[in-house]
Amino acid sequence: MESRFHRGRRLRRTEALRSLFRETRLTGNDLVQPYFVVEHENPDVVKPIGAMPGQSQLGLSALLETVGRGKTAGLKSVILFGIPKEKDERGSQAYAEEGIVQQAVRELKENFPDLVVITDVCLCEYTSHGHCGLIRGGEVQNDPTLELLARAALSHARAGADIVAPSDMMDGRVAAIRQILDKDGYSHIPIISYAVKYASAFYGPFREAAESTPAFGDRRSYQMDIANAREGLREAAADLEEGADALMVKPALPYLDVLRDLRERFDCPLSAYQVSGEYSMIKAAGKEGWLDPTATAIESLTAIKRAGADLILSYFTTELLEKELIPRS
Ligand code: PBG
Repeated sequence: MESRFHRGRRLRRTEALRSLFRETRLTGNDLVQPYFVVEHENPDVVKPIGAMPGQSQLGLSALLETVGRGKTAGLKSVILFGIPKEKDERGSQAYAEEGIVQQAVRELKENFPDLVVITDVCLCEYTSHGHCGLIRGGEVQNDPTLELLARAALSHARAGADIVAPSDMMDGRVAAIRQILDKDGYSHIPIISYAVKYASAFYGPFREAAESTPAFGDRRSYQMDIANAREGLREAAADLEEGADALMVKPALPYLDVLRDLRERFDCPLSAYQVSGEYSMIKAAGKEGWLDPTATAIESLTAIKRAGADLILSYFTTELLEKELIPRS
């Protein structure tokens, strides 16, 4: 007798069949590993980040060594965050030619010319008050901050960065960065804009990692309200208009609806940032034996790709490659 119902299990019977019909494949090409490079008298220093097991602040030499190992395992791209020795009101180490990120970019590109080096462009790791812009009267100033962000992006490009990624959420920063890059001979350097970045509790562990906790208040006057999806489309459209080459949604897993909205609306490349809290939750539950951490990581990353991300920033990148849990390409 002919069965009249849908037999979905036919295509799931063996791994060979499942693999043949798999719609989404995660590989090393999809992933970017974030690193925290610390300005320290001992360039070999490795300072483990308590809230992010497996991640550390790395001195310059330690970074080179770690990236070297990652490259051997198939690492293609990194994004850098700097922790300077000295912070000040204007975040001047963010745009210093000899700043720690600028040094790290030069060294990485010298040692690994085909590694794609992305830099996070922001002031919060460099300001004494921990905010992403200049402060006047207790408020983060938008327009006066743009010039400093543009200078930071230019200093990264001069050091050899392949891509700059502004994460500050000031209005108009993509245009300001595009303009200075074009004027100074870097019209070929792309901008990935953290266009849709929420004021998220999931950044908790990062604040320890980057030593960037705001000294007063919070970031809700510049990062987006967690309840808003339509507003994300306006932010995305504005950044494309200003010249962004690719957009980012951040955090990733709790905002897959927003990522899908962007995928449907825009044809530009999309990235998503699986942030520190997403990482630490999986690590913590894994440590307790409550779930399988690497399987959970792969499931999360696959979901983020399935929702529409072309590129995912993830602290799991090198671990998954080194353990050969995902193919290199
Ligand atoms: C800098 C920046 C932050 C993150 C990336 N760039 C911190 C913040 O906005 O508070 C968070 C990344 C993470 O949590 O992994 N503005």
